Amino acid sequence: MMALSETHLREKAAQYGQSHLFRFWDGLSSSERAGLLDSLSQVDFALMDTLIKSWVLHEPAPEHFSRIEPVNVIPPVDENSDRTALDAGEQALRDGRVATFVVAGGQGTRLGFDSPKGAYPIGPITGKSLFHYHAEKIHNLQRRYETVIPWYVMVSPTNDGQTRDYFRQEQYFGLRPDNILFVRQRVVPCVDATGKYILEGPGQPAVSPNGHGGSIQALVDGGAIKHAESRGIDVLCYFQVDNWAVKVADPWFIGYHCLANAAMSSKCHRRNDLREAVGVHCLCDGVYRVIEYSELDLYPQLLERDATGAPRYFAGNPAIHILSTGFVKYLNDHFDAFPWHKAHKKIPFVNEQGALIKPDAPNGYKFETFVFDALRFVPHPPVALEIRRPGEYTPIKQYEGVNSVVAARQSMADYWGKWLEKAGCSIPRAASGACCVPIEISPAFALTEEEFIAKARGRTLVIGDGVAVDAAGECIHPPPRR
Ligand code: UD1
Repeated sequence: MMALSETHLREKAAQYGQSHLFRFWDGLSSSERAGLLDSLSQVDFALMDTLIKSWVLHEPAPEHFSRIEPVNVIPPVDENSDRTALDAGEQALRDGRVATFVVAGGQGTRLGFDSPKGAYPIGPITGKSLFHYHAEKIHNLQRRYETVIPWYVMVSPTNDGQTRDYFRQEQYFGLRPDNILFVRQRVVPCVDATGKYILEGPGQPAVSPNGHGGSIQALVDGGAIKHAESRGIDVLCYFQVDNWAVKVADPWFIGYHCLANAAMSSKCHRRNDLREAVGVHCLCDGVYRVIEYSELDLYPQLLERDATGAPRYFAGNPAIHILSTGFVKYLNDHFDAFPWHKAHKKIPFVNEQGALIKPDAPNGYKFETFVFDALRFVPHPPVALEIRRPGEYTPIKQYEGVNSVVAARQSMADYWGKWLEKAGCSIPRAASGACCVPIEISPAFALTEEEFIAKARGRTLVIGDGVAVDAAGECIHPPPRR
């Protein structure tokens, strides 16, 4: 977007009570001035005005629902499931109707990793990154269904360049670059308690990415929807980059979605704890919603247990959805109606003298949209498919503890350890039953236990102090990279 003129932006800022943005103008260099004009040209002042008035200057009352009910789900797929859905999903894949879509706007900061989170080397032996794992799954599906599955990668302005460089450096993990499209999400200004945009530098408004709901606009702005339509793709399989285990384009899930002719479908998993940091799928006055874990206290029934002691509202949100391309276009055209959420945060700012201050306590607000809020706009009840966690949901939110790098690596060992045992290998296990050596099996080689057992037949798999099987099914034993 071309930067708007100084006069125009000064008028806009004045109209919305934000003239302080030009406070340091006289002391700015010409490139700093250009930078400020460029940043302000991206701002939707009218939208910000609405957000400030309805979220900051007046605390909105929480939405009230007279009736909240658990959602109806399709039970987890097993050997007794009706294979009609699988057949439909496989057909959609073969017909080239499917693209994958990852939201990867975040950095690995919480993992102590100063790069895009997707580049985090999660493989305990190979050092393969989250992106690499996802790419290997795409390889496998493309081969199996003799198809092309384009990959749309949503990045933020913070990690756009780094992510593209990383993919280039890794030669797109062997995927064709023209089947990978990076789409960039927008940012929104951060504001203080009086509704003024915060300056984090004399010529620099503080901004934050607009949340993964911003992927709706990013898919359209970034050309992904055009790309999809030009190839006859109408099924977009959404996942979050931090979920190492995700089935990136699960034929069963695609099949249920296609058979229902759904606009949007979601996977759910059993919440293992009332305070588990996951959103909760439920029906609010008959409308399908996900209530985010940070908002659960507003709706105490979501913290109730059933007679067995398990969460009564059992359906947790693993953040795995399918959206139809038509529905993305509809949402984009009606994005004004999309709900926003605010977060109270510590936001560095410059004082009157232009010195940077890092506050000790939250001093301002960031605004975000959540993609799962799209569920309330679907014309028919969405498909909700329950999943079991192993091999589907192992998010990585921190280095150690619950949902961590350490836990994810253990889950790899436990999950793939079973495959190796079924293939006749003996795996060292602790008294607890946990597998004691790191294990990695390339998803490009095998995506399922059946595939692994069939392909591993006749191969020599040596379990030393760990084992890694590469895309060709060869055993590799490099020293662990930490
Ligand atoms: C998220 C979900 C929660 C779900 C859980 C599952 C939200 C608000 N909540 O929680 O309902 O149960 O995951 O693991 O997302 N991202 C962007 N751009 C943004 C913001 C986020 O690309 O502007 C991406 C991140 O890179 C990440 C994902 O969205 O892949 C989730 O963000 P994160 O902050 O980790 O969400 P959680 O709080 O863990």
